[in-house]
Amino acid sequence: MKRDLFDLSIPDGGAYTDLLVKRPDYQRLVTFVENKKEPLYSWFYYKEGFARELVWKLLDEMGVPEGGTVFDPFCGTGNTLLACMQREYNSIGCEILPLGAFVSNTKLQQDYDVEKLAEEIRRINSFKFGETSLKWVDPGFIDINRAFSRYARNDLLFFKEKIIWVEDEKIRNFMMLALLSIVLQASNAKRDGGVIRIVKKKHLAPVRYLFKNKLKRMFRDVKKMQHHDCFAKAYLGDARSFEPDEKVDACITSPPYLNYIDYTKLYGLELALLLDRDEISQLRKMSLRSHIGAESRGKTVDSELLRQTLENINDPLTKSPEIVGDYFADMNQVMKKVHGGLKKGGKFALVVGNACLPGTTIDVDLILAELGQKMGFEVKEILVANVRWCDVHGITKDRPARESIVVLEK
Ligand SMILES: C[S@@+](CC[C@H](N)C(=O)[O-])C[C@H]1O[C@@H](n2cnc3c(N)ncnc32)[C@H](O)[C@@H]1O
Repeated sequence: MKRDLFDLSIPDGGAYTDLLVKRPDYQRLVTFVENKKEPLYSWFYYKEGFARELVWKLLDEMGVPEGGTVFDPFCGTGNTLLACMQREYNSIGCEILPLGAFVSNTKLQQDYDVEKLAEEIRRINSFKFGETSLKWVDPGFIDINRAFSRYARNDLLFFKEKIIWVEDEKIRNFMMLALLSIVLQASNAKRDGGVIRIVKKKHLAPVRYLFKNKLKRMFRDVKKMQHHDCFAKAYLGDARSFEPDEKVDACITSPPYLNYIDYTKLYGLELALLLDRDEISQLRKMSLRSHIGAESRGKTVDSELLRQTLENINDPLTKSPEIVGDYFADMNQVMKKVHGGLKKGGKFALVVGNACLPGTTIDVDLILAELGQKMGFEVKEILVANVRWCDVHGITKDRPARESIVVLEK
């Protein structure tokens, strides 16, 4: 019988491998793709986010009690929170990036004064261009002068200044999100995998045009919005120390993958527009990297699978072991917080990607399952949602790497 990529990714033996279940029906849902056409979810394109349906499917499959509360310690742009709200679940999120927390909370806003919003949109669109007193903040890792044309630089700040003066907070946030969401399109930059690059784009639409269109599309969504009677909020914080005030029924989350993505750099242009100088320098000091903490601290966790994996890292150029150790030490800390915050019987779904290193694959899903079990979770199953090939050192299709959903129960 022909073995597909999913089969190839499931080893014949080893700890927790009997819990691996092929679930290609989750393949598209662990990506942002489906959200691009959904009202509200499409307000900000966050490539690292997952689909609304993923949350809905997990709520059903895990049997989260109706009206319960769901926690997402790495809430990104709030897709878990919004999906829960739309199904009348309460939700609490935590996110370290101010951009993510802002986008989340703006997507969760309800009960707009639609007429007032329409009027403010008309007003902002009618401004004749002029100079602005605002200045760009240097994000430190990308050259603003190369990233934008002179016009785009001025116009983004021009609109930001007008938005700051909007009295109604809800409308102000709505407009600021619209402006943030067009920053990349208005720039000569491109997010490419885990990095942001300056590229020469042939046709750059003017800021005013992009902004007007975005406001129009978002306004259409607001008009169709329904009220949901539940609590939903994203808190700015660090998942390693954040604890919800009340016990929750479930946790659905996706931590940063072990793939060296630096979110602060990747979203540096938007952050430079959103934050002031002090906030940016604060954020830079935190130096958020692929692992969820900062600089390598050489921490370790008690995991047999991790010890075996680290022994296999045989490339002297890869200074990964400390970072890998730190990643799991940080994840262990977060998982303990989640364990403490979950009700007995509460479910915990972790969407994770395995990492490709020269000579070895780090089975993040299996290692987190082991860590979970050690702290008192029962490992229910590991849903294999997607499988891709590791391409390392010029060898394409070297070996398969899973993207999985680890399901634990307290
Ligand atoms: C894979 S993304 C989550 C995306 C989210 N599921 C969504 O749909 O938008 C991981 C998120 O974790 C955030 N993050 C990284 N380190 C963190 C920490 N220590 N505490 C809280 N959030 C953190 C990143 O900024 C990023 O937004």
